[in-house]
Amino acid sequence: MADTLTITDNRTGQKYELPIQEGTIRTTDLKQIKAGPGDTGLMTYDPAFLNTAACRSAITFIDGDKGILEYRGYPIEQLAEHCNYLEVAYLILFGELPTEAQLNTWDDAITQHTLLHENVKKLMEGFQYDAHPMGIFISTVGALSTLYRDAKQVFDQEARNRQCVRLIAKVASIAGYSYRHSIGRNYVYPDNDLSFTGNFLNMLFKMTELKYRPNPVLERALDILFILHADHEQNCSTTAMRVIGSSHVDPYSAIAGAAAALWGPLHGGANEAVLRMLEGIGSKNNVPAFIARVKAGDGRLMGFGHRIYKSYDPRATIIKRIADEVFEVTGRNPLLDIALELERIALQDEYFVTRKLYPNVDFYSGLIYQAMGFPKDFFPVLFAIPRTAGWFAHWEELLRDSEQKIARPRQIYLGPKRREFLPRDKRT
Ligand code: ACO
Repeated sequence: MADTLTITDNRTGQKYELPIQEGTIRTTDLKQIKAGPGDTGLMTYDPAFLNTAACRSAITFIDGDKGILEYRGYPIEQLAEHCNYLEVAYLILFGELPTEAQLNTWDDAITQHTLLHENVKKLMEGFQYDAHPMGIFISTVGALSTLYRDAKQVFDQEARNRQCVRLIAKVASIAGYSYRHSIGRNYVYPDNDLSFTGNFLNMLFKMTELKYRPNPVLERALDILFILHADHEQNCSTTAMRVIGSSHVDPYSAIAGAAAALWGPLHGGANEAVLRMLEGIGSKNNVPAFIARVKAGDGRLMGFGHRIYKSYDPRATIIKRIADEVFEVTGRNPLLDIALELERIALQDEYFVTRKLYPNVDFYSGLIYQAMGFPKDFFPVLFAIPRTAGWFAHWEELLRDSEQKIARPRQIYLGPKRREFLPRDKRT
């Protein structure tokens, strides 16, 4: 059986044989298919990239029908159970799980880069008192490009490694400051005695005590949430990272763009939207009426549905388990009952069943974040911290891929045909 595709162009009767490699055809192979002289060749039309592979990647594997997620071949369930976030970030970035010695070196490097330049602090102080922390986060990450001038050397591996360590470490500190700024509290400097996640909690919640000691259950829960959010192959923000990175701009500017894409309610802003939705529903009794409105086309059931997962999102399964552990410490989030009722009804309802709409990662994560004391505005920032590992890994992969070029899709032009200019007094 030949790995080829035979196409007959019924406009011309001509036949073409295209090679199939790794389950794909090259869309550039279609350019030879022309209706006649002057035709520039057949294109594919794929708004929102529903069925277009734009790269070859070795980072994350998803089987959306079976609900499988693997980073570099390791199942997410095993990584969430046995690893910490920095270990998983290392795996995503460098391809292998670190040895004990490699992990210690990596851990030290990240710890040594958590401090922010004092000018960054001043920059952040300039934001309006009630500025959205994600807006502060995006702007500040972008501004780092002005501090690290070597970031422009995107083809220098050592310079790239320096930006990698800086970014993984500093996004947590920027996130911490953005939170403290939004509640009008002093910025807390990093504490190098603590783990990555413990220190992050320190930068958020330290008050006047001499030493902040994170609750180990909450520290571990947040660390697992970071693992679950660290990468998800070619999602909207990662695609933004790759598209921006393809112009060879520095990684701070590209990550600012990727984070902006993450902020939208259809992507990483969904966990914030889920909480607002649950608060709006108000009580378990109002769930059937809410579901009826969604089915009638009035709004969406936020935290449900996924472009790739057509079964239960494996991350949602893990998050549901963590929620129980967190609520043991914090007390049960009263919105949980509404969420469980929404899930129960939706999973039996023909509308959701036929469209294969299941809870995604954002359905339960917001409930945990809220119980841990994070404000809703801060949820997308919590997503952006670990996703920085994924964005950076994809950027690195892009720059090493000799097939990649500046991203530049085609279009089907539907505007007016060429016409003559009209002076202002002749226009109607
Ligand atoms: N509630 C109600 N209906 C939905 C939902 C939902 N959450 N999601 C999809 N649908 C319906 C659509 O109306 C559509 O119905 P139709 O065929 O009758 O027109 C059908 O399901 C297919 O939906 P699409 O929008 O075509 O699916 P797409 O793959 O483009 O969208 C998305 C995926 C954006 C995640 C969508 O499911 C959604 O908006 N979900 C809510 C927002 C959300 O939770 N986002 C987080 C995603 S996970 C992440 O980014 C981390």
